[in-house]
Amino acid sequence: MFAAPLRSLVRSPAQQRLRRAFSVAAPVSSTAGGIPVDVYNPNGGKRVVVTKPLPGDRWLEVLTSSGNRVEVCALKGDEDTILSEAKIATLIGDKCDGMIGQLTENWNDALFAKLKASGCCAFSNYAVGYNNVDVDAATKHGIPVGNTPGVLTETTAEIGAALTLAAARRIVEADTFMRAEKYLGWLPTLFVGQLLQGGTVGIIGAGRIGQAYARMMIEGHKMNVVYYDLAPQPAFEKYVSDYADLLEKHGEARVTCTRASTIEELLPQCDVVSLHTVYNAETKHLINAARLSLMKPTSVLVNTARGPVVDEVALVAHLQKNPTFQAALDVFEDEPAMKPGLKECPNSVLVPHIASASLYTRGGMATLAACNVAARLRGDPTWPTPENAKPFLEGPVTGIPAMSPSIVNAKALGIA
Ligand code: DGY
Repeated sequence: MFAAPLRSLVRSPAQQRLRRAFSVAAPVSSTAGGIPVDVYNPNGGKRVVVTKPLPGDRWLEVLTSSGNRVEVCALKGDEDTILSEAKIATLIGDKCDGMIGQLTENWNDALFAKLKASGCCAFSNYAVGYNNVDVDAATKHGIPVGNTPGVLTETTAEIGAALTLAAARRIVEADTFMRAEKYLGWLPTLFVGQLLQGGTVGIIGAGRIGQAYARMMIEGHKMNVVYYDLAPQPAFEKYVSDYADLLEKHGEARVTCTRASTIEELLPQCDVVSLHTVYNAETKHLINAARLSLMKPTSVLVNTARGPVVDEVALVAHLQKNPTFQAALDVFEDEPAMKPGLKECPNSVLVPHIASASLYTRGGMATLAACNVAARLRGDPTWPTPENAKPFLEGPVTGIPAMSPSIVNAKALGIA
């Protein structure tokens, strides 16, 4: 959809200098089992398959400069937006040393068995989340599973903040109204929404992204924060308390940060609730009808985590019954589909899983996925601090640490 323009757009001045120093030759068109592929470095020794074109050039430089042949699936039709398991198996073929897959693909036991049989010893998901990957199956077949932490935090938090504002101030409804040429003049009652300033934001899952989002709401809108997380977050609490001291020094009201011991305790206090949990059996339908009913009738629910964390059928019913309640969703339970009725709710803001879609982040994710694979193909060890991804993202590719930035089953495979 965006491959060609993005390849040039994503280049920062530093990347452009790098490109002059090491340029990736244009791909050669070919096929893999009848599927069209773009081949980079056709004479490379190891075959790395990538199921979708990725933004930027740095990732290609990482893989080709380390002597790999890179084959990028070039299927373009709408029916191939999400590749079928059969097509992925065809792309793997008889010899596939390394693989970069997408979060929309179901990397199950059968695909890992196929990868193993093809000689593969390195897989990376192009995502920080890996709920689409059967890591136990990969481990059973001896295949390392990479992911891409350390580059999504602020980008994802920014979309959370953007969705929050859009929902609270009814931006999308108002935009639709303007485009329909319904605006006949200013009215005191037109698109009245909720003020965030001084309100309370609830964070469910106070990890890196949850905290980054919370800071945007605290510092930008002076909101108080209540968080629910299995672990206390003392450094975060101290940060908020120091920020409150600063506000007080300047004659402003302090902001507060408290940890709720249950989700039930958090929900009724909050004007905004933002979800930042991983998705697994425990977090499926974490927000259900009963919990929705505990939220304020004017509150905003934001989901940039994973769709099934919210019972979307219950949410639609709640939105229909409570016109002042707002939902702002980046992810959907049956993605890419929406549950019936959702798109008809004017009190919902809906975007297609774009939380990580900044040029910096999507290019960085590609670099990290490529480094995961390139390093494993050379037999290099695993970077001990996956959150500190900068050394992989900046400077010439020749200066990148000879390590995989993040392998989630490294310990189980003895390559930590
Ligand atoms: C991820 O990396 O898990 C994100 O959902 C991509 O936006």
